[in-house]
Amino acid sequence: MSIAQHVQYNMKNTSWIRRMFEKGQELRERYGKHNVFDFSLGTPLLEPPEAFQSTLRYLVNHPHSGMHRYMPNNGFASTRQAVAMYLSQQETMEVSADDIIMTVGAAGAMNVALAALLDPGDETIVLAPYFAEYLFYPRNHGGMVSIVETTESFALNLDAIEAAIHEKTKVIIINTPNNPTGRVYSQQEMNDLGALLDHKEKQLGRALYLMADTPYARLIYDQVQNPRLFVAHHNTLIVHSFSKDIGLAGERIGYLAINPRATCRSDLRAAATFLNRTLGFVNAPALMQLALERSIDATVDIDHYRLLRDTICDGLRQAGYEISVPQGAFFLFLRSPIPDDVDFSKELLEENVLAVPGSGFGRAGYIRLSYSVPLQTIEGALPRFAKVLDRVKNR
Ligand SMILES: Cc1ncc(COP(=O)(O)O)c(C=O)c1O
Repeated sequence: MSIAQHVQYNMKNTSWIRRMFEKGQELRERYGKHNVFDFSLGTPLLEPPEAFQSTLRYLVNHPHSGMHRYMPNNGFASTRQAVAMYLSQQETMEVSADDIIMTVGAAGAMNVALAALLDPGDETIVLAPYFAEYLFYPRNHGGMVSIVETTESFALNLDAIEAAIHEKTKVIIINTPNNPTGRVYSQQEMNDLGALLDHKEKQLGRALYLMADTPYARLIYDQVQNPRLFVAHHNTLIVHSFSKDIGLAGERIGYLAINPRATCRSDLRAAATFLNRTLGFVNAPALMQLALERSIDATVDIDHYRLLRDTICDGLRQAGYEISVPQGAFFLFLRSPIPDDVDFSKELLEENVLAVPGSGFGRAGYIRLSYSVPLQTIEGALPRFAKVLDRVKNR
C-alpha cells in the first residue's frame, strides 16, 4: 500500500460523519429520500442572502480588468479593509487591514496559522467535545494534540487547561458558538481563560496563542452574544468562515485575523501570507472576496435556524428526551437515553434517522443532530425519535 500509514490510520479511525453519509446514501436508494431523516451533516441549509447574490450577479455582469488574476497572497486590500472595519466593531477595538489575511475558509486559516506557529512536537490543546478536524490540522504541520475535557455542561475547565499547559504547548483552540454542543462561551469565561494564558506565558517566558474558530459567530439566538476575543487575550488569532453565516461553504472563503496586541504580530502576518502561498492555497477565491467586501453585513435568515432549533428541541423534549437548548450554531448535542451512544445511533438508524455518535467528537453518551435540515425532516423524524425512546427505555 503506497498511502502513508498515518493517513491510512486516520482514514480508518475517524470517519463517523463519512460513515453516516454513506449509510444515508444507501438508505435513500432503498427507501427514497423522503423516508430518510438525515441529521448527520453540518452543511448549511439556507442559500446565500439576496444582498450577496445580487452583488455576485453585478460583479459577473460588470467585470473589471484583472479581477480573476492572482493578487497579493493575503488578499485584496479592499476586502481586508472591509473585514477589518467589521471586526473592529465586533471586537470594539481598532483592527488594521494589515492584520487580516483572506483564506480558503476557516480550515485554510487554521492550517496557515498552525503551520506558522508549530515546530515539530509543539502541542495544541483541543477541547472536547471537538470539531473532529482539530485533531488533524496540528498534525498536518508536525504538531501534537492534547485533548482537554470541558465540564459536564461544556463550560471551559480552567483547572484542566492549566494542568495541560507545559513546555511544549503553543496553541489552544476554542470554538464559539460550538460545534457540536451549540454552546457560546461567556465574556467572563473568555476573560478568565485569557488571564490564565497571560499567567502561563509569564511562567513559560513565551507566547501562548488562543486560536478562536468562529464560523457560527453570527448564528446565535436569544440575545446571547459571542464574546469579544481580542480583549480576552493579547495573543488571540480569530479564524472565521463565511461558510455558514452567508451560506458559502462550497466557495471556500474565510479569514485569519491577528490581534493588534499579538507578540510577533508583523512576523505572524508575513508568515501567514507566505504560507497561504506555499501550502498551495495561493490566495482566497477572488470573486468571493470582491462580493464579500460589498455585502459583509449580509447573513442568511437566522430566524429560520432559530425556528428549526425550537422545533427540534420542543419536539424532543415533549417526547421525553433531556434537552439542553443550544445558544448558537445549528447543532443539538443530545444526551443519549442509553449509555452507549453508538448503540443509540444504531437504534435511530433502524428508523432511518441518521445522527453522529458523540464519540466521534470526543464525548461518548451523546449524539450530534444537525438541525440545518428542512422543517419537514424534523417533523417527520420526531415520531421516530419518540418510538426509539420508548423502545430503548422499555427494554
Ligand atoms: C467548528 C468548525 N470550524 C471550521 C469549519 C470549517 O469551515 P470552512 O468551511 O470555512 O473551512 C467548520 C465546518 O463545518 C466547523 O464546524
